[in-house]
Amino acid sequence: MKGLEMKNNVAVISRQVTEMTDDEIHNLKKIVFDSGIVVLKAQNATASDFVDFGRRIGELSPYYEEMYHHPNHKELFVSSNVQTDGKVIGVPRTGKFWHADYAFMAKPFAFTITYPQVVSSQERGTYFIDMASAYERLSPEMKRKIEGGVGTHSVRRYFKIRPTDVYRPISEILHEIDAKTPTVTHPLVVNHPVTGAKILYVSRGFTETISLKDDDLDADEVLKDLLVESGQSDDTFTHPDIRQININEGDIFLWDNRRYVHHAKHNDKVEPTKTYRLTAYDGLPFSAEIDFALDSVKEVGLV
Ligand SMILES: [Fe+2]
Repeated sequence: MKGLEMKNNVAVISRQVTEMTDDEIHNLKKIVFDSGIVVLKAQNATASDFVDFGRRIGELSPYYEEMYHHPNHKELFVSSNVQTDGKVIGVPRTGKFWHADYAFMAKPFAFTITYPQVVSSQERGTYFIDMASAYERLSPEMKRKIEGGVGTHSVRRYFKIRPTDVYRPISEILHEIDAKTPTVTHPLVVNHPVTGAKILYVSRGFTETISLKDDDLDADEVLKDLLVESGQSDDTFTHPDIRQININEGDIFLWDNRRYVHHAKHNDKVEPTKTYRLTAYDGLPFSAEIDFALDSVKEVGLV
C-alpha cells in the first residue's frame, strides 16, 4: 500500500482514510491481520467520516451501555473527561486494565479502531500484549495442560457505575449485570479464523475462572501462571512482551482484537482527554478450526 512503512512491527500508513479506495481498504484489512496493529497517521476525518471508515472495515456494533455513545453516532464509543456545554459526553478513564474488547460477550469484536481527539501531555498511550506470541512462548507442557480447556469471562469487576445507579443498592446493580451480561465461556486457545494462529485467550480484567481437561490440575494456579507468563501480572509494565504505543492526536489505531489484550494508560493529573472508538465484526467466527480458517480466508479473498 502507498504510504506504508513498518516501525517496530507496527504498520504505519500515511494516507487519509477518507480518500481510500475499496482496494486500499481490502489491503488494509490484510495488513491488520498480518501485522496486528496499524496506525493511520494524522487524519482529518470528522466523527461522521470516522464512522463511515469503520463501516468499510466491518460490521459496526454500538456498545451495549448507552452512556458511552456519541450523541449523534451511537456506533461511536466516547472515552472522555472533556466537558461540552457543561456536561461530559462519554465516560472518563475507560479500559485501564488488561482486556480484549467484548471478551465478556459471546462474540468479541474482530477489530477495535480508536481515534484520539484530545490527548493529555503525559502518561498517554496504550499497552499491548500479543497473545498469539504469548501462546507460542508457552512451554510444551503448559500447551498440553490448557489444550481443550475453557475460560469464563465477565464484565463484573470492571462494570462502570452509571450516573443513574447513584443511590441504588449494589445487590440490585450486580443482579442487573448478571442478567444483562451473564458470564460467557471461550476456549483457552482461540484459533484465528483468518491467520490460523493459536491465541492464548485469557485476560486479567475479564477472565474469572478456567477449566482444564485434566481434573487433577489446579486450574486457578494455571490461570495465575498464564497471566504471569503472558505479562499481564506485571504492574510495572516492564515485562519484555508488553509494548507501549504512544498516541498522537489525529492518528487512527486499528488492531486485531482477537490477537491482542490491551491496557489504557491514563494521566493521574486531570488533563483533558477524549478518544473515539469503533468496534467491528468481520463476518467470521470468533474462533475456528484450522481447516475452516483456511477456507474462510479464501472465501473473504484474503489469500
Ligand atoms: Fe478496550
